[in-house]
Amino acid sequence: MHELTTELTELLAAAAAARERAYCPYSRFAVGAAVRTASGALFYGCNIENAAYPSTICAERVALFSAYAAGERAIVALAVIADTPEPVSPCGGCRQVMFELAPRAVVLLANLRSAWRVTLVEELLPAGFAFIDRSIDR
Ligand code: THU
Repeated sequence: MHELTTELTELLAAAAAARERAYCPYSRFAVGAAVRTASGALFYGCNIENAAYPSTICAERVALFSAYAAGERAIVALAVIADTPEPVSPCGGCRQVMFELAPRAVVLLANLRSAWRVTLVEELLPAGFAFIDRSIDR
């Protein structure tokens, strides 16, 4: 399960390409993400900052929201890349979004030094918050 498959390697290349499009004039910390859905479609994300700092959005959320906005909800895998010493560690807010929008996704975390880690949303956010007894599409 926790292996770097050909499909994940391809998804990582998409995330690296998306990272080049990051808009991060404040932090200068570029992040790229890419999502693969069950149909085989790829969706891209990069962080997009704002002078009103809290209006910034992370790369992971852009990729996941793009898939949902295209009507693609069956998220199979998510790749994230940044220039970090270790494979990038997604923020808590993005983990919560993954928990709801991509609960069964395989997550590939990577950096620019070829270090990587394959994990699962349930490993990144054990016992995350969710409404129960509601007809949320999972
Ligand atoms: N950022 C992401 O895009 N993803 C993460 O998982 C961590 C943080 C962005 C948000 C902000 O633009 C910059 O990195 C610094 O926090």
